Amino acid sequence: MYSIRRNWFLTLDLLLLSLLVTSMQAESSELEKIVLSGSNVTLQISESLPENATSVTWLYTIKQKIVEYEKSRPPKYFDSAFKDRVKLDLQNAALHIYPVRKGDNGTYYLRVIKDAIKQWKISLKVLDPVPMPIINIEKIEESDGNCYLKLSCVVEDPFVDYLWYKDSGPFPMELQRSTLEVTVTPHNQSKSYTCQVSNLLSSKNNTLYFTPPCTLARSTGVTWMTNWLLVMVPTILVLLI
Ligand SMILES: *[C@@H]1O[C@H](CO)[C@@H](O)[C@H](O)[C@H]1NC(C)=O
Ligand SMILES: *[C@@H]1O[C@H](CO)[C@@H](O)[C@H](O)[C@H]1NC(C)=O
Ligand SMILES: *[C@@H]1O[C@H](CO)[C@@H](O)[C@H](O)[C@H]1NC(C)=O
Repeated sequence: MYSIRRNWFLTLDLLLLSLLVTSMQAESSELEKIVLSGSNVTLQISESLPENATSVTWLYTIKQKIVEYEKSRPPKYFDSAFKDRVKLDLQNAALHIYPVRKGDNGTYYLRVIKDAIKQWKISLKVLDPVPMPIINIEKIEESDGNCYLKLSCVVEDPFVDYLWYKDSGPFPMELQRSTLEVTVTPHNQSKSYTCQVSNLLSSKNNTLYFTPPCTLARSTGVTWMTNWLLVMVPTILVLLI
């Protein structure tokens, strides 16, 4: 008899638990936000909060509480990586993060308890602004007024897109990668070659200027020339002679 009752309670427990979990899943909505590191960010749900909630909690992952508000007490900010740069807005339960850092990437939960637990999930993706690219001259070869050019665009971020431009606009899609390799003729020569690097939220560019067909004129940023030795050595030899 005892074991039957116990079993029955266990079943009821499981049933309640699964009901709770299902209702939480049904009520939780998912949002994604992509932001630049260093900016100020507000995490907020679009629905209105239940009035007179017993408690409002923001968590980073399901383990780390960031801030918790319980009725008629000041919000408690937990000792976490967020301390001193987060603020809970008591009106709408928005969480302000100022400024957001690369390490804040991840999933946030807003948990509101009134009669039942209600939970929302927001995933935050933090991108760094792309660094300034450097254009590296790998090879320049001139013959018969044509110019063979191999330029590489170097940037300390593996997750960027590259876009090369000349005077008249962007190069065709099939040439778009970190290294630009082209032969220009007197008909399609260009005075400038620009490499633009970008991610979803930011972009930067650097430009090399040429006197056609093949003479480097100037650059807007720091330019590494792997071939400067090739240029320098003959010059020094000529000077010595
Ligand atoms: C971000 O918030 C801080 C603190 O409130 C403020 O000093 C700073 O100017 C804000 N930055 C931006 C880009 O809004
Ligand atoms: C320039 O024109 C030549 C011949 O029409 C072509 O082979 C070459 O790919 C062109 N180069 C660029 C940079 O458009
Ligand atoms: C390069 O960047 C500057 C400002 O940073 C912008 O005005 C310009 O349009 C960009 N050029 C290209 C070709 O993307």
